Amino acid sequence: MKVTGSGQILGAAIDGLDLSRPLADDELDALIGALGRYGVLRFPRQRLDARQLADFSARFGKLEINVANAYQEPGIPEVMTLSNIVENGRPIGLADAGQGWHTDMSYSRTIAFANVLYGIEIPMRGGKALGGTEFASMHAAYEDLPEEMKRDLEDMTILHDFEKFWESMREKGSKRPPLTEAQRKTKPPVSHPVFLAHPITGLKVLYANPGYPVRINELPPKESEKMLAYLFEHQLRPKYRYAFHWTPGDVLMWEDIGTIHNAIADYGQHEHRLIKRCQVMADRFFGDA
Ligand code: SIN
Repeated sequence: MKVTGSGQILGAAIDGLDLSRPLADDELDALIGALGRYGVLRFPRQRLDARQLADFSARFGKLEINVANAYQEPGIPEVMTLSNIVENGRPIGLADAGQGWHTDMSYSRTIAFANVLYGIEIPMRGGKALGGTEFASMHAAYEDLPEEMKRDLEDMTILHDFEKFWESMREKGSKRPPLTEAQRKTKPPVSHPVFLAHPITGLKVLYANPGYPVRINELPPKESEKMLAYLFEHQLRPKYRYAFHWTPGDVLMWEDIGTIHNAIADYGQHEHRLIKRCQVMADRFFGDA
């Protein structure tokens, strides 16, 4: 297997691995190391069915069955379809998943370690791929914070709420229905430290994202609001960012602790995007809460 860094703040291509085959232990270790170093990995020219995607993803940790509880692969609920395609008047996937900066499952007691996405149809216009996925490095964002802020926030925690992102999508016109009581109960708001020691690199990262955090628990409401606004702006500075442009057949894997991401909504209803996704929990590092 050959690892080629993108030369940017995040991103590498992994050649010479067929992800439809079982992954050897040394390959798994090498990929975890590469995730620590590059954050986002592209595996080009893959051909996977849903079972193979789930089997590859499950080598990295427990797979989440998404609380959205829809668009699951028959018999494999851990594989979710993200798509704007409508067949016979019915959407085949969640159309606007991830359209807004966030990191997956910061709203969960056991946080996410990684996302694994398989690109099947990618919208094109004028020879250019649309519907890219962009990332920002939270190692770099932490590093650049003022020393005094690092000290002040060191022992503080952020409350993350799944409903914040869900409702913000509805306010932007998403057709997703309001969360049910059962969904709310499955994922009640949870707190995590503002800074985490990254389980692969051992370095500190800023564990905040504009999607789910609603307040810093240890600050009065007004100060919390101001500080979160500062952190959200800071973590999206262009110098921390990396944009990925899809080719059909790509598997894109990223680690969710040291990066945040955004699905770019720059394509129309009739420009089809079809992605299959697994979400991998960080139980291998933090146990299973
Ligand atoms: C996600 O947030 O998991 C989806 C990202 C994408 O579809 O590009």
